[in-house]
Amino acid sequence: MSQTMYEKLEGCLASVRAKTDFQPEVGLVLGSGLGDYADDIKIEATVNYSDIKGFPISTVAGHKGRFVFGYVENVPVVIMQGRIHYYEGYPMADVVLPTRLMKLMGIKKLFLTNAAGGVNETFNPGTLMMITDHILYGVPNPLIGPNVDELGVRFPDMTEVYTKDLRQVIRDAAKETGIALREGTYMQFTGPSYETPAEIRMARTLGADAVGMSTACEAIAARHMGLNVCAISCITNHAAGITDQVLSHKEVQAIADQVSADFRRLVTSTIARMV
Ligand code: HPA
Repeated sequence: MSQTMYEKLEGCLASVRAKTDFQPEVGLVLGSGLGDYADDIKIEATVNYSDIKGFPISTVAGHKGRFVFGYVENVPVVIMQGRIHYYEGYPMADVVLPTRLMKLMGIKKLFLTNAAGGVNETFNPGTLMMITDHILYGVPNPLIGPNVDELGVRFPDMTEVYTKDLRQVIRDAAKETGIALREGTYMQFTGPSYETPAEIRMARTLGADAVGMSTACEAIAARHMGLNVCAISCITNHAAGITDQVLSHKEVQAIADQVSADFRRLVTSTIARMV
């Protein structure tokens, strides 16, 4: 009989456990601009994705591929340095496999970060936006396929994907660190092309404040498993058509790098308050 998703996850967990028995409380996924955040924490162990049997490998330049285990302000964390995107060609079940694996490692809370385009015209490049809700657009739901009963129910509720308590934690952290924080709805497109101006007008009409190519699918998989989720986007650009400027990955990365000092402080302060 072919391997079930849960058996595949158990195989991945065995690969990780062969290297470390570290027990993380919080999972953190690093988006653009935060890529090297993990280098500065108190590292206890690292596991390269390529050493995990059956694990999808990210192909995006500038994304490292490893789990980093350690402490952020005494909170035991596992950090994903490099995530998998749907546009890389992996099936959705593989895109969310790392999220599911972190749950099997023992995390209770998941903190997602990303770079995103600002649909809300008041969001200038460099804005940090806490995600309050999301829209999955043109991307298959990651729970399509046989339900993994060991992880969660067939029809999970998504009324509060981004946990209310954790949203308050982020607000408190922003206040304490003096970092300006906006809030809004994130819309996930497939990428890898950036959106057209017409698509951005559609996104705005539908209620989106920011657009990106990740995160919502991971949040869905996490909520399916009962994890508490929170997320912050770094708005790296006005979305297509808002200004005359064309979009480039290089510029997205440059802005993400400029904001990274504030972003890191906000992430650290949030994690310190999460448990
Ligand atoms: N669109 C989609 N993804 C992005 C963008 C954007 O404008 N900026 C950064 N990631």
